[in-house]
Amino acid sequence: MQAMHPLFDLTGKVAIITGSSRGIGRSIAEEFARAGAKVVISSRKLDACLAVRDAIVAAGGEAIAVPCNIGRKEELQSLVDTTLGQWGRVDILVANAAINPVYGPLASVSDDAWDKIMGSNLRSTWWLCNMVMPGMAERKQGSVIVLSSIAGLRGNPVIGAYGVSKAAETALVRNLAVEYGRANVRVNAIAPGIVETDFAKALTDNPDIAKAVMRRAPLGRFGQPAEIAGVALMLAAPAGAFVTGQLIVADGGATIADPTVL
Ligand SMILES: NC(=O)c1ccc[n+]([C@@H]2O[C@H](COP(=O)([O-])OP(=O)(O)OC[C@H]3O[C@@H](n4cnc5c(N)ncnc54)[C@H](OP(=O)(O)O)[C@@H]3O)[C@@H](O)[C@H]2O)c1
Repeated sequence: MQAMHPLFDLTGKVAIITGSSRGIGRSIAEEFARAGAKVVISSRKLDACLAVRDAIVAAGGEAIAVPCNIGRKEELQSLVDTTLGQWGRVDILVANAAINPVYGPLASVSDDAWDKIMGSNLRSTWWLCNMVMPGMAERKQGSVIVLSSIAGLRGNPVIGAYGVSKAAETALVRNLAVEYGRANVRVNAIAPGIVETDFAKALTDNPDIAKAVMRRAPLGRFGQPAEIAGVALMLAAPAGAFVTGQLIVADGGATIADPTVL
């Protein structure tokens, strides 16, 4: 077998990845396991998590499955407690799961929907960080990765509230990076462009959007989950040891192209 590259070696590290039964979260869990990490697979549905756990174990990795709805504080605490009970610590936290229940301008978003979006995307990430980061600080070592979005970098008439929650997550990341830097705990965010998952199906299945991406984005295509997992691996591993408080955009160049020219 080929030796692991030391800059991307996660051997023995314990990683919690929320929303890892499908899509980007699943790919992150698989790649972390392949790099030697012990991974916690989590989503609302235990059966889906067990299937991912089994696939990782069958491929020679170490994984457990713990169901958790990120909107519920007690379920987040039980996710952390179960991990600590099993493996004694958390070295890497990936706050990946998020929700986007509404489409339309901000004025059309109900108070209830706003609270749900902010509760599940922003407050739950803050909760989870508070549950995990003090332990990382004690051991003077840890990496937290938050899945933001390019929707948090630009205005959007359709998914504005989601974008606001994703922008706020990057502010949370910067603040936690300042608070925990001296304890050698790093916190970063990733902003994917459109990646082919269930979450983005309404976009990837829309021929007008596909055409616009082909025309405007420098790479001219949608992303794949593993292309986000690669960035997460860098941030979790020694390769990212000097990176903290950052938002890394992985969008095929979609946000840097001038739409009036291309
Ligand atoms: N795909 C894109 O184009 C794109 C672009 C930018 C940013 N992102 C961000 O990337 C992250 C992952 O997105 P994705 O595209 O991989 O989504 P996805 O394929 O729809 O997967 C979402 C995952 O989260 C879980 N999940 C959903 N609601 C949950 C909840 N309330 N509590 C716990 N788990 C929950 C799902 O499993 P269950 O249904 O079993 O709970 C699933 O495992 C999100 O933060 C998203 O905002 C995605």
